[in-house]
Amino acid sequence: MTESTKSATLSLDGNDYDLPIYSPTAGPDVLDIRKLYAQAGVFTYDPGFTSTASCDSTITFIDGEKGVLLHRGYPIDQLAGKSHYLEVCFLLLYGYLPTANELEKFETTITRHTMLHEQMTYFFRGFRRDAHPMAIMVGVVGAMSAFYHDSTDINDPHQREIASHRLIAKMPTIAAWAYKFSIGQPFVYPRNDMDYASNFLRMCFAVPAEEYQVNPILSRAMDRIFTLHADHEQNASTSTVRLASSSGANPFACIAAGIACLWGPAHGGANQACLEMLKEIGTPDRIPEFIARAKDKNDPFRLMGFGHRVYKNFDPRATVMKQSADEVLDLLGVENNPVLATAKALEEAALADPYFADKKLFPNVDFYSGIILEAMGFPTSMFTPIFALSRTVGWISQWKEQLDDPAHKIGRPRQLYLGETLRDYVDIENR
Ligand code: SDX
Repeated sequence: MTESTKSATLSLDGNDYDLPIYSPTAGPDVLDIRKLYAQAGVFTYDPGFTSTASCDSTITFIDGEKGVLLHRGYPIDQLAGKSHYLEVCFLLLYGYLPTANELEKFETTITRHTMLHEQMTYFFRGFRRDAHPMAIMVGVVGAMSAFYHDSTDINDPHQREIASHRLIAKMPTIAAWAYKFSIGQPFVYPRNDMDYASNFLRMCFAVPAEEYQVNPILSRAMDRIFTLHADHEQNASTSTVRLASSSGANPFACIAAGIACLWGPAHGGANQACLEMLKEIGTPDRIPEFIARAKDKNDPFRLMGFGHRVYKNFDPRATVMKQSADEVLDLLGVENNPVLATAKALEEAALADPYFADKKLFPNVDFYSGIILEAMGFPTSMFTPIFALSRTVGWISQWKEQLDDPAHKIGRPRQLYLGETLRDYVDIENR
């Protein structure tokens, strides 16, 4: 924790209270209010925590005004262009770019953890075939704590590291098997001679009846989607993982909680909701109707894939994703994809509309990802599981960082109580 070099003074009911100020390496200063309630008897009020720093961290920095996203200081466009997902996993977990030997050792370790305990196949079979893959992922990941007892002790750094590797390695297998189960096809086992993204594509699309050749451009695009979703500071699902971990819950339970939070359409579920919205719009001539609905205060409809709690500029991930979308659709000969045409027309119309410009609502990471995933052959129900697969390394890196902080304690927000004050029970005959 950095030292405080200045403070702010709060004057309340004739008393002055000094609030230490900490300055970060990047971003806004923070006011330390930890002693405020003890000293002044008041809480701060910040529903949704939009002005609250819940922790200090060295993993990811976002500048929402400038559209900047750094992982351990490296900008996301450089990582997406020059690195690959497992190297970014190493960077997020350990804080530096690995040497060639370190990377080879890490990739070998992850590769050798991609299989699931065979007994876990029965979990998938317990679901209805039409279960949403996110429901299966929440269940199966939570159930990992019933199988991998040798990596649930959060006080043992060695077990924490094994749990981290197991989660990164097994999420593609779990996501792919959730998909296979939903379409009634047999599970395809991971292979140790394939890279992470190629393995995932093969586990999703191969069938025992024939050899499956992974298209290197598609596996590169898949790997880039993993990288673009890897971590994103203290977003809702990461904050959920941190809060679950603060009670001492095991890593598999914490990640299952993060998956559950990510599922919502305001968060990771937006990529599925965005593609469904683009399909509902259908053709560019219907865009004005939907933009009018998004602007109508009395209509709960929002443009899925637009806006962000932090970015008030372009989401830098959306920029890279848009380039990827063009590459993949050109490769697949579907550059005339009607959904992409509608997406581009919608983006143009929204950015030209004062409502979106004034409220700084720009396309976010979810706006183009769904188009790529659909072009690759994934159903919309697999979009958020792929987001969860990608974000696991971010969740587990933030989980690890919190546990490495000896000062960490259980999270316990307070409230502004507006309910009934003390009153006596009334017997039913007197009501
Ligand atoms: C992710 O936090 C993260 O980092 C998340 C994420 C990550 O990597 O973890 O980046 C991933 O979740 C991306 C966001 C995906 N969600 C969507 O695309 C769903 C559609 N977007 C919205 O639901 C919304 O923009 C949120 C939930 C993302 C943000 O909501 P906020 O914080 O309420 O947005 P805001 O304060 O900037 O809104 C300002 C105004 C409001 O209107 P007023 O009250 O000022 O009149 O803009 C309106 C909002 O109602 N608004 C929208 C809108 N988003 C905000 N109006 C129409 N369409 C939208 N999409």
